[in-house]
Amino acid sequence: MGRVSKAGRAVERSKIREMKELCEQFDNVISFAIGEPDFITPQHIIDSAIDALKKGRTKYAPNAGIPELRQAIAERLKRTHGVSYEWSKEIIITGSGMDNLRLVFQAILDPEDEVLIPDPTWSNHPNHPILAAGKSVMTPVYEKDGFMYDVSVLEQHVTDRTKAVLLNSPSNPTGGAITGEQLTTFCDFCKRHDLIVVSDEVYEQIIYDGLKFYSPAMVEGMKERVVVCNSFSKTYAMTGWRLGYAAGPADIIHGMEILNENSISCVNTFVQLAGVTALTSSQDCVSEMVKSYQRRRDLVYNAVNEIRGLSCIRPKGAMYAFVNIQETELSSEEFAKNLIVQKQICVVPGSGFGSAGEGFVRICYAVSDEDIAEGMKRIREYVDELMALATSPRL
Ligand SMILES: Cc1ncc(COP(=O)(O)O)c(C=O)c1O
Repeated sequence: MGRVSKAGRAVERSKIREMKELCEQFDNVISFAIGEPDFITPQHIIDSAIDALKKGRTKYAPNAGIPELRQAIAERLKRTHGVSYEWSKEIIITGSGMDNLRLVFQAILDPEDEVLIPDPTWSNHPNHPILAAGKSVMTPVYEKDGFMYDVSVLEQHVTDRTKAVLLNSPSNPTGGAITGEQLTTFCDFCKRHDLIVVSDEVYEQIIYDGLKFYSPAMVEGMKERVVVCNSFSKTYAMTGWRLGYAAGPADIIHGMEILNENSISCVNTFVQLAGVTALTSSQDCVSEMVKSYQRRRDLVYNAVNEIRGLSCIRPKGAMYAFVNIQETELSSEEFAKNLIVQKQICVVPGSGFGSAGEGFVRICYAVSDEDIAEGMKRIREYVDELMALATSPRL
């Protein structure tokens, strides 16, 4: 009998961490690997946490979070989603976007229940149903569909054990975002099969070119089957604070609350108060950051498409370009590992996001303009050398 449980051994480390460790063996590496805002948290949010600490807001909070923050979230969801949530029953404060996924899948799954998960997807998504004793059923999404679900493919993967489906729009790792038309057919599918939708909306605000953000919760008749999962990490550059929230049907939120009571008990009170400040003060800081990501999205998108052998579709949101490397004829792992060794550039192999991510690599462009310029120059040299080798006559 092993000392570590099946659950403890059930999931693998993410490729993102593995690549980061490989990078540490080299000097002068430019990393496009970690999906983290390069800004620090806006000063007024930091000040508000300090102020809360100075005022002695250092005690336990309710398991579901402080009323002020749940009310602020309910008001925000009314504005952004046009949906009314009862703050005391339908909203919970969690310890991040990651924590949302842990709680929601533990709250809804019985052993062997299945969850449809897009492939490729953020590497942690398939782990959470597994950690909750369920099964993740990887469902390919394709570049031609902007990496969003094709309902005919979902139909091939749904069974009578399917309990839920995960949607992540805008998406990590692809930068895809669901269109209004795709949303309608997706929601019809969910209703037809009586599925719960776990809607990971951590990139809700990071959407470009004036595109509208769509959540399944916005669709008539869907509120009772959707759990909206969001976080302060990306929108407010608060990754290290560990603050998130979920909004959904009262029975599921209650289940999450009981699980919370028995794990972290509650999120830090002063962090929640800083969350109230983030939501209720001017949102100019968010627009500025999004403008800056969009500018850098353009730099990377244009540079990639100028390299013979590479291409990518224009990311609609999040902070990633999912680059098609199929013409190089290397696996994504070979492409990424050789790129570190030969040019000291770190990208993440698409295979780390699911088998359908093979043939792609992920570039996170939340890095400086200088690093983008130098990084894309080195990637061009690397691919030019690869393509020259591929086309040189054999002796
Ligand atoms: C799609 C997606 N969901 C959730 C998270 C988790 O974010 P956090 O736990 O920092 O809120 C991430 C982080 O990269 C993500 O990309």
